[in-house]
Parts: sequence; C-alpha cells; structure tokens
Amino acid sequence: MSRESDMGLAYLESLHICPARDTKEFHAKVSDALGKAVYEQFTKVSGEVASVPGSGKNSAYYAFKNQNEYLNHTISGLWDGDIYRAIVNWLFEHREYFGRDILDIGCDNGILSCFIAKMLPKSQITGIDKCWKAMKVARKTAVCLGLANVKFFTAEAGRYDPSALFDTVISIRTVHENFAVRHSVFPASHCNAVDEASGQLTPYARCMAGHVAPAGNLITIERFDLETNKSGWLRALYEERFSPDSKGCEKITVQEVGVYSTLDACAFVRRGAGQPSQSRLWSGMRGDPLRV
Ligand SMILES: C[S@@+](CC[C@H](N)C(=O)[O-])C[C@H]1O[C@@H](n2cnc3c(N)ncnc32)[C@H](O)[C@@H]1O
Repeated sequence: MSRESDMGLAYLESLHICPARDTKEFHAKVSDALGKAVYEQFTKVSGEVASVPGSGKNSAYYAFKNQNEYLNHTISGLWDGDIYRAIVNWLFEHREYFGRDILDIGCDNGILSCFIAKMLPKSQITGIDKCWKAMKVARKTAVCLGLANVKFFTAEAGRYDPSALFDTVISIRTVHENFAVRHSVFPASHCNAVDEASGQLTPYARCMAGHVAPAGNLITIERFDLETNKSGWLRALYEERFSPDSKGCEKITVQEVGVYSTLDACAFVRRGAGQPSQSRLWSGMRGDPLRV
C-alpha cells in the first residue's frame, strides 16, 4: 500500500501517533514521555497484567493508561499504533458494511470509533466501554478531531440498554476479555474445545447480537490465540443467527512492538429463517466439524 493510499497512516499522523519498532524503543519512549515516577507505576501495573493472562487485572491497566489523553495516546499509540493503522485501512476498505446508527462495543480510547465517525459523517456512532476513564479520553479525542457525530458512554455491554437498536454493531479486540475462563491449549473438562469456547462466549455473542436491528449487521475484529476459540466465537454468533459474509472476512497483518501477528476481521449478516450457513467458510476451519 502506498503512503498516499494509507488512510490509517494519515489518520494516526493527525493524532501524532507513531508505533514503537520494538519493546526497547517502546520502554525508552514511554519513560521519556511520562517521566521516571509514572513510568515505574506503568511497569508495575502492566507487569501484573502480563503475569496473569486474561485476568480481571486488565481493568487496572485500562484505568492506569486512561488517566488522561496524553498518557493514553503515548502508551496505546506506541504499543498499538500499527494495529490501529491496519484496522483503519480495513474499516475504510469495508465501509459498505456500515449503516447509519453504529455501536462500537469496548471502544476504549475511541480512536477507532472516531475514525468511523470521520469516515462516515452522515452516520451516528455510539462508543461504549466499561472503563469510565477511557470514555473521558474518547470524548476528548472526538473534540480534538472536531467530530459531532460520535458519543461515548460508560457501560458494560451486557447491561447497556439503549432506547433503539443499531444498524451496525462492531467490536474490536474485546472477545478475549469476555471468556468466563480462558484455556491456553486444552479445555479443563473432557469436552470438545470448540463447544467449550462457544459456550463461554455465548453470553457476549448474545449481547452483541441483541443490539443489532432486524436488517442490521455485525462486525468483529479479533486476535484469536487458538483456532478453537475462533471457531467457538463463530459458532456462538451462528447460534444467534449471524453468519460470516465471505467478502467481509479477512486476516489483517499487524506489527506490535516488532512482533507480527494477524487479526481476524469478519462482517456477519443476519440469516433469515431457513437460510443455510455459508458452508464453504465453515468447512475451511481446521479440525472443526461444526455440526450446524
Ligand atoms: C483491548 S481493548 C480494545 C479497545 C478498542 N476496541 C481497540 O481495538 O482499540 C478492550 C476494551 O474493551 C473493553 N471491554 C471488554 N469487554 C467489555 C464489555 N463486556 N463491555 C464493555 N467494555 C468491554 C475494555 O474495557 C477495553 O477498553
């Protein structure tokens, strides 16, 4: 992709965000930007999160980095900058999937919700996150970008009760935080791992699907550390009558402090009664019989 057509790069430059090339540069720049005392607090909080993967300690990390916009954009920008860039480009290339009223669940600092608002000036975007400090940062980002078509509310997705349904519900990098229990390789019990993942993700899939208007659609962009978790997520949404649209599903390659990985971006459409699934996509999933 040329620099001219790299929408993500231009957007990040407008927010003065530039990702670190590796962890050494990340720590040096965070320390420079925040000063020694705040940097030490940061390493303590992030170290605690890293030591217990998938734990509820994430909320302490989010509260720390969302103390203000500068802290958030420094930490998230240096760590997640290239992820934002790649996701922004995907969102732009798939903008036909977005309707007029859009809900972004787990929007954190609102950097991506604000891009959607900028890209679709005729749409109204609602961003929600359970971290109230993140919502304060997100509102500031929207003001800084001069956006009037995006608003942010503190809410846990399962408890959010808006007055109307949304044409499009999107959620980016939140599924891993909505497992009841996460398994690194094998499930704890002797059941099928996909069944277990799908069972655990059903409440979150149901709550996302529950916010979509009858003719609306759903988009998720996720990193799945295990294929079984991805299959479990797809199955949980399938049970809520959402099937992946083959044109809207793609792997996005991202660089995160020098490490390359992929995210699974997928647009889902609601199946009508009696409508079969897109079996080609389902059967492509390694080792998953998916008896649907
Ligand atoms: C890894 S961050 C991703 C933020 C943003 N979507 C992005 O991709 O830049 C996950 C965010 O989702 C929020 N979150 C996770 N589960 C949630 C839920 N059930 N309800 C509301 N917010 C949630 C967390 O508080 C956190 O801010």
